[in-house]
Amino acid sequence: MQNELVIVLDFGGQYNQLIARRVRECGVYCEVRSYKTPLDEIKKLAPKGIIFTGGPNSVYDESSPHIGKEIFGLGIPILGICYGAQLIAYTLGGKVETCTVSEYGKTETFYNKHCRLFGSDPELPASAVSWMSHTDRVTVLPEGFTAAAHTKDCPFAAFENTDRNIYAVQFHPEVNHTQYGIRMLNSFVKNICYCKGDWNMRNYAQKTIEQIREKVGNGKVLLALSGGVDSSVACALLSKAVGDQLTCVFVDHGFMRKNEADEVEEAFRDWNVKFIRADASERFISRLEGVSEPESKRKIIGEEFIRVFEEEAKKIGAVDFLVQGTIYPDVIESGTGDAAVIKSHHNVGGLPDCVDFKEIIEPLRMLFKDEVRKLGEELGLPDYLVWRQPFPGPGLAIRIIGDITREKLNILRDADLIFREEIAAAGLDRQINQYFAVLTDMRSVGVMGDGRTYDYTLALRGVTTTDFMTADFARIPYDVLEKASIRIVNEVGNINRVCYDITSKPPATIEWE
Ligand code: XMP
Repeated sequence: MQNELVIVLDFGGQYNQLIARRVRECGVYCEVRSYKTPLDEIKKLAPKGIIFTGGPNSVYDESSPHIGKEIFGLGIPILGICYGAQLIAYTLGGKVETCTVSEYGKTETFYNKHCRLFGSDPELPASAVSWMSHTDRVTVLPEGFTAAAHTKDCPFAAFENTDRNIYAVQFHPEVNHTQYGIRMLNSFVKNICYCKGDWNMRNYAQKTIEQIREKVGNGKVLLALSGGVDSSVACALLSKAVGDQLTCVFVDHGFMRKNEADEVEEAFRDWNVKFIRADASERFISRLEGVSEPESKRKIIGEEFIRVFEEEAKKIGAVDFLVQGTIYPDVIESGTGDAAVIKSHHNVGGLPDCVDFKEIIEPLRMLFKDEVRKLGEELGLPDYLVWRQPFPGPGLAIRIIGDITREKLNILRDADLIFREEIAAAGLDRQINQYFAVLTDMRSVGVMGDGRTYDYTLALRGVTTTDFMTADFARIPYDVLEKASIRIVNEVGNINRVCYDITSKPPATIEWE
């Protein structure tokens, strides 16, 4: 059975994904589509509601995205947000003008409790803070519309036409800064679109498992497992669907963290899945010896990874399906999301296109990261895998600055483990989004016991971020850093100095190489 659907028509707003995520948090399945989606396609999708996003343009710019009036005749409830609100006003005969005072940031907003949009939620107060970001505003409402909210500078901060089921808000309900914003979206999808809320990961798992079974039949399925969240959840799903028709290849390049390769293998031991651990660590390290330039390291690891994977795939023989861990943000960002292309983002350098297979299966293609995690929990994956922090494909090779040696790898593994243990002991492991140790190529003088030392400097890095595109350094309490530093210097040989990296991204990146 099809899920109820709400679609977000994207007019170029920076929050398009966030709106869809918020609607899904209300238990309603939501997809982001281009504003150019033909009307016939929208009719076929039969959404229970349509949301227009914001966008950077002015409705009066010739090049700005517009939409035909016909969409308002479909009888489907529509909510316009920011640019979407202005577009509704403009398209239906209202007036939009440049604000004398642009509104940006948190703004006291007064809601009309007798209107349908805000009146249907009794818990919504008559005034609260909303998040505004606009330089144009609606000055004359189209015929048949009434004001639903106002601010000091904006007489029509929200408006509606209940007869035509069209609603509009100038502010951004999807942003956390808007108090009650999620309640407003929830009220729109439940009280106006009449969605019941049938979207949850239990149903998704059941439905997807059935679909995979139907598609795969008796075919052979191959999955490159990295031990990261996405490939682990994809593996759990496939294993429940097709059991021993699935083979997972885990390429151990030797740059995993301490005990990590064993932990990944252990985690999948109880699953009904053929698990191949291709131990290629010697091969990788011998190719990397003497290489210090970061991009060369990445390239060599990427190439070698593909070679090992290909060799394993050939041993398995004719493969019918290859599983990819693509998730929804990748699909949205790539626009059309052409399923036949094997993307290189997924791991170290993408997957080989010379491995023979008939079709690609992307079971997480419509899920956001937080949903992938929920699905992982639903399928019974251990917390260790579900809540794993991101780990770069090239692993510790790009956390050893300069030349890689076996000795340095061991030093870094031990130091990194201590840092992770101390972060976990302080209960910070879910608050800090990524944290790790970096072995620099700098040595300095120290004193231990009564003797002089001349040893490596270790850097610790911890960041808070939601998107990993920008990040702030994590404010780890000094006593936690101190404990980690003391333990590292005492328990790991060859380190006599520990620094904490306090640069944000930008200007730095999260990884050092
Ligand atoms: P940077 O260092 O660019 O990293 O700020 C952003 C995020 O991406 C991760 N990262 C990688 N992930 N393959 C991956 O799968 C890679 O080659 C790679 N390089 C960086 C990094 O750990 C951080 O989370």
